[in-house]
Amino acid sequence: MRISTSVGAAMASSIAMCRLRIRGRGSLLKCLQKVDTFLHRHIGTNLVAAKAESLQKEETDERDSRKSMYAVQEERQAQAERSVLISCHSRTNEKRFLKYLSKHGDINKYFFYEGYGMYAVVEFAQRESVASLLEEAVIPSVSHESTVPFKSRLLLLRNLGGSADSQSGHQLQPQTTVPINELIQRLSKEESIDRQVAALTEAYQLTEENSRLRFLVCSLLQDVAAAYFPECTIRPFGSSVNGFGKLGCDLDMFLDLDGISGRNKKLPKSGLSLEYQLKRANSERAVTQSILSVIGECVDQFGPGCVGVQKILNARCPLVRFAHQPSGFQCDLTANNRVAMKSTELLYLYGGLDPRVRCLVFTVRCWARAHAITSSIPGAWITNFSLTVMVLFFLQTRSCPIIPSLDHLRDLAGPADKCVIEGNDCTFVSDFSKIQLQSNTETLEQLLCEFFDFYATFAFNKMSINIRKSKAQNKPEVAPLYIQNPFETSLNVSKNVNATQLERFVALCQESSWLLQQRENLSPRGANGGNNTATPWGLAALLLPSRVAEIKGRKKRKREPASERIKSLLESLKNNNQPKKKS
Ligand code: CTP
Ligand code: MG
Repeated sequence: MRISTSVGAAMASSIAMCRLRIRGRGSLLKCLQKVDTFLHRHIGTNLVAAKAESLQKEETDERDSRKSMYAVQEERQAQAERSVLISCHSRTNEKRFLKYLSKHGDINKYFFYEGYGMYAVVEFAQRESVASLLEEAVIPSVSHESTVPFKSRLLLLRNLGGSADSQSGHQLQPQTTVPINELIQRLSKEESIDRQVAALTEAYQLTEENSRLRFLVCSLLQDVAAAYFPECTIRPFGSSVNGFGKLGCDLDMFLDLDGISGRNKKLPKSGLSLEYQLKRANSERAVTQSILSVIGECVDQFGPGCVGVQKILNARCPLVRFAHQPSGFQCDLTANNRVAMKSTELLYLYGGLDPRVRCLVFTVRCWARAHAITSSIPGAWITNFSLTVMVLFFLQTRSCPIIPSLDHLRDLAGPADKCVIEGNDCTFVSDFSKIQLQSNTETLEQLLCEFFDFYATFAFNKMSINIRKSKAQNKPEVAPLYIQNPFETSLNVSKNVNATQLERFVALCQESSWLLQQRENLSPRGANGGNNTATPWGLAALLLPSRVAEIKGRKKRKREPASERIKSLLESLKNNNQPKKKS
């Protein structure tokens, strides 16, 4: 069949636009249906099935070619080891700066950002270039105060005498998210809720540069820890690397001593051999505490740019917390935290299986933050990690599941994936291509509405959330919210959450579900007067704290109390007669 050039071009551009704008498979299909209608009208043919199939194949191919988290980490670590972090004046002349640094070797990549002043991250092509650059650097002699002559790859660019630099207006890479009001405005201008969710994800996710900076900070810290353990590695974990990190999230780090040479070597069966004499401690925990204690001290005393160091060694998971001023990261350094590394890898895998996973997690996290359901201050609130697991559970329990259970991922694992940590089975497949997904075509808009409904009516009083089984199970112990830890299965991830915080979450889910079903929130509402601001609608309206409060107030006046509404919702669910939702 031949399609006329103009119709073909129109169709191709529609598909290209849709693919550019909307990442979800469901959204793509929806978009294809539009193209199909267009084709029907103009040339009387139906291409959706064929095109949808080929798009699905492309998406599967893309997913299958994804690297494992460890492969990505290795690449990033190598980049970080070839990089330096330089504090420079905002008027630094870029050309002159690069020419000066290039004396030491080729530069792979560089960028500027603003923190406490302007900084440049420079990655050389070879590690030797960093050594050569450090060779040339000077230890400052300050007359009125003393300094510790600790050399690191955090440097200061001086421009003494000679010609003055005059450049301004460097392209600065953002390291923080846009303010919520600006985000709400951006979303209000989008044409669909699917687009809003995609735009929110784009605005909040970690940038390439921010990711690089995170690995560089780990690498700088590794140099400090190397004073005691020259062969140690410091790896990031948690949201910095699991795919759900938002600009500005904390930097969780893991001091890994497992790679120390000689560790896994066996003594020969006969003949002479030597082994290291080591100091013994009472327990694994005591070892972790003493390692973190000395490294924490070292970071505090000598770590350039590290301020506010706190050693929190009696926590369930001992850690050293500090702020890394040049990057602006709040850092948590742990040791012997292998299970958390595995849960990071698991989240990375889930996030890479279907683009809707990350989009929904970002949206829910942002929504929760906008309504103070979560907070960066430790407390009785639901944490981002718990929220992420709740989203995963919701996606596993769709009538056509979007992601599989952890038990299924364990069943697909190969011998190389086998992993048992302190008696906990942490085995699951790491190869994306081995995972077959079901063809769920729900749009992000549908999923968002369903998410709110799901948790507005979830039997939190009796049931626990279990992503290992993809099933709600009876709670093993009393707790307002029980989310089983995927690997340490006797632990509750959300043990910290109290009844009040859970009630707030449930009430907000109800309000948000209701709000999303209102006619005025279903489509763009156009400009607001002459000031070029758009009226918040859809997801943007959900993020407006005042809007939800206003609805709450109005509903309080006009409708039955929340407790009654939960009761009637539960009743209607029991009778298998859910309130009608928009499609
Ligand atoms: N973690 C865990 N069990 C918990 C809490 C945390 O296994 N009860 C692991 C998870 O892998 C989590 C990581 O530790 O991702 C870091 O925890 P945290 O910083 O609290 O969560 P993040 O996922 O990093 O989210 P945020 O952006 O809020 O830092
Ligand atoms: Mg974190």
